[in-house]
Order: sequence, then structure tokens, then C-alpha cells
Amino acid sequence: MRTSRRALIVAAGASLLPLHPTLAAALIATPSQTEGPFYPTALPADTDNDRRVLDLNGKPVEGALIEIWQCDAQGIYDHPRQPGRERRDSAFQGYGRMMAADGRYSFRTLRPVAYPGRTPHIHVKVATAGGGLLTSQFYIAGEPGNERDGIFRAAARDPRQRERIEMRLAPAPGLETGALATTMDIVVG
Ligand SMILES: [Fe+2]
Repeated sequence: MRTSRRALIVAAGASLLPLHPTLAAALIATPSQTEGPFYPTALPADTDNDRRVLDLNGKPVEGALIEIWQCDAQGIYDHPRQPGRERRDSAFQGYGRMMAADGRYSFRTLRPVAYPGRTPHIHVKVATAGGGLLTSQFYIAGEPGNERDGIFRAAARDPRQRERIEMRLAPAPGLETGALATTMDIVVG
């Protein structure tokens, strides 16, 4: 395979906004973004258990389920509607699901790549115990294709929202050479 499988660790905290009108404006919510056509139709049997999630006041959100999904290093999703699906990297799960414990979550994945029409991104969905649901996407800060991607631009026009969806990647000490890490707070309003 010509593509490199660079590891990317994303560790994030998210807060769920309790219905406290006086505090509601403390943080700006993570913007909602399209789910896209490739939400998995079949889920891996395993569920990871090493995480954390937070809310609009910076308070950890209890009982939040976080899902991420993305294409492999060739830009191929594991989905029935994905052309060329048979060529996908079968060693790459492409989907992860975790319960936030004390608002914390983390996951390990590949650095996302572009595919036709889209700049690199990771899909994310958060369902809270209180019935809240947020679907969004994370992008690589500074990626040249971002500004040509209409979905990215729709949310990034507002600099405060941009901050919620841009991953700032940095070397991850203690991991394999070349591994990168970022921290993304997911703020659910
Ligand atoms: Fe996508």
C-alpha cells in the first residue's frame, strides 16, 4: 500500500450543558455537521472503555456515548455504498464507540485523508444520557483543502466554531515515532 498509516491520537473533554439559562452562554457549542452517507451499517463487536466527555459550562457530561467513523488511508469507507469497498484496508476498523467516563474520552485512529470532494475529516456523533444528540466532523487545522470544502466552511466561518472542529496536531511523546495527538473538547448544548 502506498499510503502511510500515521497514527493519530485524539483525546478530548466535552461538557454537556445543563439547562441553566444563566450559564448557557459560557461556551460555544460544537457545530452540528452532516452525518454523510457512510455511517456504519454494521458495528464491530467490541466497545472500547477508556474515555471522557464534557458540557457547555465545562462540566463533564455523564453518560455520553461517542462514536467516530472515517475512511481508511486510501479514502475508502467500510460501507455498502462505498465504491471500491473491496479494496479497503481490512485491518482498519474505521469505527469506534466509547462511553465517556467522568466526561473523558480518547481514541486512537489514523490521520484522516482526503477523498473526492472532501477535505480530511473524522465523523463524530455524541448521544447524551439526557437525550441530546450532536453529529459533527473534526478537521486538521491548516489542511489546504479545508477552505475548498463547503461543509467545513459552513461551520468555520465563525472563528469560535472553527476552534471546535479544527484538530491541532502535535507530536505525541511516549507513542511510536511520528505519532500525533490532539485534544478536542466537544461541547454539547
Ligand atoms: Fe466522510
